[in-house]
Amino acid sequence: MAKKRVLTGITTSGTPHLGNYVGAIRPAIAASQNDSVDGFYFLADYHSLIKNDDPDKVRQSSKEIAATWLALGLDTSKTVFYRQSDVPEIMELTWVLSCNAAKGLMNRAHAYKAAVQLNLEAGEDPDFGVTMGLFSYPVLMAADILMFNASEIPVGKDQIQHVEMARDIAQRFNHHFGEVFTLPQAVVEDNVAVLQGLDGRKMSKSYGNTIPLFATEKRLQKSINKIKTNLLEPGQAKDADDSTVFQIWEAFATAQQADEMRAEFADGIAWGEAKKRLFGLINEELGEARERYYQLMDTPEFIEEELQQGALRARATAAEVIARVREAVGISAIR
Ligand code: TRP
Repeated sequence: MAKKRVLTGITTSGTPHLGNYVGAIRPAIAASQNDSVDGFYFLADYHSLIKNDDPDKVRQSSKEIAATWLALGLDTSKTVFYRQSDVPEIMELTWVLSCNAAKGLMNRAHAYKAAVQLNLEAGEDPDFGVTMGLFSYPVLMAADILMFNASEIPVGKDQIQHVEMARDIAQRFNHHFGEVFTLPQAVVEDNVAVLQGLDGRKMSKSYGNTIPLFATEKRLQKSINKIKTNLLEPGQAKDADDSTVFQIWEAFATAQQADEMRAEFADGIAWGEAKKRLFGLINEELGEARERYYQLMDTPEFIEEELQQGALRARATAAEVIARVREAVGISAIR
């Protein structure tokens, strides 16, 4: 049976939090263990330059994110795990695709439109503060995907439009120059929870309401204690479906543990006790990985070596595809 090629990128901005873990990292690692999947997972470090002009932050985030995936057991003999910037063919492809992607298509990208909208509301020039990087973001993402002829792209809902744009760009290219690219499709896992943050809104770096994935035990405990609850006293029945503590519990619990906790809520478990148990549950799932994480952070050479091995494998595929692209558009030796 032919393996299906599954590819996804992780922008190297920020420190991974529980929401990233439950929503993206855990399902991706599980999928990579499936023998019918040919996985390509990468650090989208060039994407991170779009919103970040602090080189130390870019470097630190790349290190933390790479260490996170390795600590959580990503099997790099099965999955090609690499850094976007180690595959220069992607940058080359970005230009070729830029020459084929319609500007009108890019005008419709949500991220760009949102920036323009904010400017208009503030009475600014519509393109105030908009870089070419932000505007062309979907082209770089299309190059990431088309470079490896990936067919399935697991992403969050906010990225579906970008994958559809990659598909449009591929279609247009194929139409002009012959069948070079596989048409990719976004895959959104509906049964994966979108975790709530400390304040009950979606857990997100931009809301500042996250629980870091590999905080020390003490900090994890402290962070969990900050989850917003209502004022119900011990002994008073609590609504599990209206509680962030329960929502996070569910993301880590077995079905049986979830049922038991639901009953405890109805019985009026104290918030302090519920949070203590939540800490225990998360700590049990992440404790060993956390130790590996800190070991990895102390041995950056090891992380780098893994990425270099991944880059070699990624470039073997990229070299073949870029050769076909160059030939297709007429960039070739004089003959
Ligand atoms: N833009 C994606 C995000 O911010 C990350 C990303 C970059 C990506 N290139 C990709 C995801 C290619 C899937 C495929 O989440």
